[in-house]
Amino acid sequence: MNKNKLSARDVFSSKFGVIAAAAGSAVGLGNIWKFPYITGVYGGAAFLFVYLGFIALIGLPVMLSELSIGRKSRSNVFGAFKNLAPGSPWKFVGMLGVAAAVMILAFYGVVAGWSIDYVVKAVTDNFATRSPNEMEAMFVNFIESPVSPVLYQLLFMLMTMAIVIIGVKDGIEKYAKFLMPLLVVIIIVLCLRSVTLDGASEGLKFLFNPDFSKLTADGILSALGHAFFSLSLGMGTLVTYGSYIDEKNNISVTALQVTIADTVIALLAGIAIFPAVFAFGIEPSSGPGLVFITLPNVFQQMPGGFFFSILFFLLLTVAALTSSISILEVVVAYFREELNLKRNFSTILATVMISIIGIFCSLSMGVLKEYTLFGLNFFDLLDWISANILLPLGGLFISLFVGWFLGRKKMEEELAKGASVVSWLLSVFIFLVKFIAPGAIAIVFLHGLGVFNF
Ligand code: PHE
Repeated sequence: MNKNKLSARDVFSSKFGVIAAAAGSAVGLGNIWKFPYITGVYGGAAFLFVYLGFIALIGLPVMLSELSIGRKSRSNVFGAFKNLAPGSPWKFVGMLGVAAAVMILAFYGVVAGWSIDYVVKAVTDNFATRSPNEMEAMFVNFIESPVSPVLYQLLFMLMTMAIVIIGVKDGIEKYAKFLMPLLVVIIIVLCLRSVTLDGASEGLKFLFNPDFSKLTADGILSALGHAFFSLSLGMGTLVTYGSYIDEKNNISVTALQVTIADTVIALLAGIAIFPAVFAFGIEPSSGPGLVFITLPNVFQQMPGGFFFSILFFLLLTVAALTSSISILEVVVAYFREELNLKRNFSTILATVMISIIGIFCSLSMGVLKEYTLFGLNFFDLLDWISANILLPLGGLFISLFVGWFLGRKKMEEELAKGASVVSWLLSVFIFLVKFIAPGAIAIVFLHGLGVFNF
């Protein structure tokens, strides 16, 4: 990377902007759509506890690693490894990241499109008169149809593009600063509604009373994959955002704040959803349809449901948007700096590319349903490969890079910017990224893929 680009680089303008943007990336469909349904599928609290363990021991150190790599290199994820380890194969970790970003945004945009459609359905009171079976049919018919989900997906991709094209400070940061507080207010209102329903305590028990016998190898791998997905780790989102962070910021504190914010919001989503689901005697383990089939049923029976259903799907859309911009920015930063393209052109190119792949994801729900690999349609395949393989693999390499290649001294130098480094905390961090994170990822990974059993 040349000097010119370095000096012309974008930076976030304030500490709050950094947190809003990074937490905006982390808090997304992962927290509100995926976390509740996979927690439901894998039996509730036991899954949650494993997930929390992964967040603390692997997620937090990998997040700090990514932010450091980004700020130190002041570069996109591919360029970052190229800068810090010139002439070595580390840059392929960056390539992997860009590929993961393309794959994730392709299916992410589809679900976000469903979410916009459900805002419209909620406003037009489409839930009010439907039986549970009709509610399910409505969702299935919608996602399987060839036109409207694609249009909503494209609309969402356009919204994402419109923000990213403006740039880091006036686009990404500005919108995150406005949308994140809105999201927090909405989710708190929904939680209050949910826990004050009669019979809500069953849902809280489901979420917080662990039954470890329900935990499978598949569940543990999913907990790991989800920790990466939810914290936006393993593909360079936070390398890219880190590269826009000013040296006055204490990135250790940023990493901690973002991790806590993401986890709290996921828990709040669980608290908003499970008590309501149990209060109306509905099955919690309904998979990806949980928020689109189960919840509308819940809203229908809930006092004030019309209003709360609009709020909920608005929340889902807003959360998706602040995440999708961070995923697109990974690709845009790569195009700009590695291919020397302008922001406008890079953004349009990346959006078009990803949207086209996304159209196939959407169609794989319906007309292209028959085309499967390992029993998964194209949508599920992208979701599964990116979350359970590419992100943990990216995380594995990132922690090895920081623990073994950069090492303690260089990390200390980076972490000392805008902060005073506490020596024993640094030792803990280095120990985690050197041994615990890569070891745990490798074990869970191989075990989950069925390479060995214990
Ligand atoms: N963390 C986002 C979510 O929870 C998704 C995401 C994954 C964003 C990977 C960036 C990178 O929805």
